[in-house]
Amino acid sequence: MSDNLARKRKSAAAVPFAMSEAHRVPKERYYDRGFFELEKEKLWHKTWQMACRLQEIPRPNDFVEYEICEQSVFLVRQADHSVKGFFNVCPHRATQLARGAGSFPGGQVTCPFHGWRWNCDGESSFIYGEHGFAPECLKKEEINLRECKVEVWGDSVWINLDANAGQLKDSIGSAAARLDDVAIGNWRVKWWQETILNANWKMAQEAFMEGWHVMRTHPQLTLGAGEATPPDSLRYDTYPGGHCSFESTVLERDYVNFDVMLASSQLLADGLDAMAIDRDMKVLESIRHKLGPGDSIREAVAREMRAYNEGAGIPMPAGIENQALWWNGMVFLFPNIFYLPMYGNSLAYRIRPYNNHPEWCRFEVWSLTTWPRSYPQTRASLKGRFDKDDADNWPLIPIQDFSNIERQQRGLHVLGYQGHRLATEWEAGISNMHRELDRRLA
Ligand code: FES
Ligand SMILES: [Fe+2]
Repeated sequence: MSDNLARKRKSAAAVPFAMSEAHRVPKERYYDRGFFELEKEKLWHKTWQMACRLQEIPRPNDFVEYEICEQSVFLVRQADHSVKGFFNVCPHRATQLARGAGSFPGGQVTCPFHGWRWNCDGESSFIYGEHGFAPECLKKEEINLRECKVEVWGDSVWINLDANAGQLKDSIGSAAARLDDVAIGNWRVKWWQETILNANWKMAQEAFMEGWHVMRTHPQLTLGAGEATPPDSLRYDTYPGGHCSFESTVLERDYVNFDVMLASSQLLADGLDAMAIDRDMKVLESIRHKLGPGDSIREAVAREMRAYNEGAGIPMPAGIENQALWWNGMVFLFPNIFYLPMYGNSLAYRIRPYNNHPEWCRFEVWSLTTWPRSYPQTRASLKGRFDKDDADNWPLIPIQDFSNIERQQRGLHVLGYQGHRLATEWEAGISNMHRELDRRLA
């Protein structure tokens, strides 16, 4: 055996509870503390992750904190409107400098303990009690704030804690290109809120990597078809790097029935206030009496949506008629971001470990939409953290999705459970994510 091969085998063997078969996921990956610690070190400390939307920090000096396990950085808008990210710690005695979101008064980051200050570009601007320190304690390059890698894509700021990381586009690659085709950069926040789930972050996000749970979890969306709904009515793809997607097959078969299409969009508008929203429903309603027998529903909808958007000054990408994703689908960007585009809107999810614990996660949900160009750029903020069952604050569809996740996490611990067994095509995205994770952990 060559040295290289031996080394490779050794490092692959070093990943505990590795994916030895593509269609089986060892259960320990969702609760083992050692596995979770390895994820921190080899994944979260080294991967690109979406840290905030640009809309959270619209003006110079605006900041937002981003936490991942024990790590914390803050993103701050610069005077020239670019964004910088800094490790969130005072070089004097470790106080965290930024909490939550806000704006640094006078463009000064101020430590709340002894009042040292920095400009928003990270340069030290004031040291209270400077004469009390040995000069070698206050070397400029050591007391300036330490930057982390930052890139902007999809109207969002992405960070990487690893100074040697490659470029974001090399990491999100061809899956991200799918979202460029549906103009992800145009999406702005309609609402944004979160819940805390008693489940591993991967367990929670796997609930959104396939669409065939709709039959049982969201029966209303089958419009009475129930178990007659074909489980393979979506097209699934996986990408190198752990990403995956599914999309509507509408380009191949058009909508079979306009009333069914209208009713299912209405359910999204009512049950989610995302993907399809009220203004889309007005456009769809207006088509009802214009359709003749044999007309393409997809072409009619595209035409009317384009006319409406042009009139309202809402930017719209070219060629949506041929972008299956514009009509309905999902793109997952490894390790933890989802976009579910539809009609120029999107639902989005970000899932992270919570409280540094393998069996808890923080689950954020955004409803994104394309605003008219003239719409003022307001600051986006989290509406709140709501219990997963809180029907006053969560629409029906997320409540239905959340309802399975903690039950699954508990099921993992039941004696005799052998680990997940995955459908070959419909759950390939889950397998693909785990296998990429193993590559990172090795
Ligand atoms: S800990 Fe920040 S100034 Fe002392
Ligand atoms: Fe669902």
